[in-house]
Amino acid sequence: MRHITVIGGGTMGNGIAQVMATFGYEVTLCDISADALEKAIKTISGSLDRMIKKEIISETDKSTILARLSTNTDLPSALKNADLAIEAATENEAVKINIFKTMDQHAPDNCILATNTSSISITKIAGNTSRPDKVIGMHFMNPVPVMTLVEIIRGYSTSDEVCNVITELSKKINKVPLEVNDYPGFVANRILMPMINEAIYTLHEGVAGVSEIDGIMKLGMAHPMGPLTLADFIGLDVCLSILRVMHEGFGNPKYAPCPLLVNMVMAGKLGRKTGEGFYKYAEGSKEVVVSPYFSK
Ligand code: NAI
Repeated sequence: MRHITVIGGGTMGNGIAQVMATFGYEVTLCDISADALEKAIKTISGSLDRMIKKEIISETDKSTILARLSTNTDLPSALKNADLAIEAATENEAVKINIFKTMDQHAPDNCILATNTSSISITKIAGNTSRPDKVIGMHFMNPVPVMTLVEIIRGYSTSDEVCNVITELSKKINKVPLEVNDYPGFVANRILMPMINEAIYTLHEGVAGVSEIDGIMKLGMAHPMGPLTLADFIGLDVCLSILRVMHEGFGNPKYAPCPLLVNMVMAGKLGRKTGEGFYKYAEGSKEVVVSPYFSK
């Protein structure tokens, strides 16, 4: 495996591209938005600078890594030489199925098609391609350069060979692959999202404030960050999409997204990436305050 195409240059896509380039793969990062690609390269460069400061890599390493990365807004040409394509675009079934149809049409026949989806059925995505045996879930955690887990999701038709290749690749990039079967939310989000949703419900019902909810879970459960901070970090739109997939997929009301989450997404308060969610994030500042909406 030499060439990896990453589709979607947002929070996850740029992290995946950075890690793959760091471990010697030639990477093409593809997004429909040229702005997103520009931002992605800036984010990667900033992340590599932090690694230089911590003496994990040198200036020369940084240049070598960046030289392995190219960007492209045209998906068919970005797939031309791909041995593996990892889709990390918006968490929306129709968007992903469309991308997979294009991937299937333009990627070389032996190219493995992976998705970083948090919840959408791998089997359904695979069913829209002519190579369901080569479609697999490769679910990285955020931030990708830091988090070691890769949840490997085996679709109904995914072959053993493809599972093995992706498991070995995950080990090569210093991650820990753990294999699960294909059910809504897989394992990570099936357990995490109900907790985040419940935290939003406790806020919505006035049981406690943002700082109290996060403080209780941090200090009381030894979680490294509170659930509302984590929701902001993941992106509230992503959390809502995952809950909707699980709600629909299981037909169980326990996964119904809290109306406050729905409202915040409609208001464009998506968390860290838009500067405000449960907290407010001033650009260029490390100070984080509870969103004025919840301080009233
Ligand atoms: P994001 O919103 O930060 O980035 C998505 C990117 O996809 C945007 O740059 C957008 O322009 C691009 N895009 C949309 N349609 C496209 C298309 N047709 N072709 C190419 N690019 C397209 O989203 P994020 O958070 O990076 O999520 C991406 C995927 O990763 C989702 O499936 C999400 O569920 C999953 N994920 C997210 C995690 C998180 O913490 N945010 C954690 C693990 C998985």
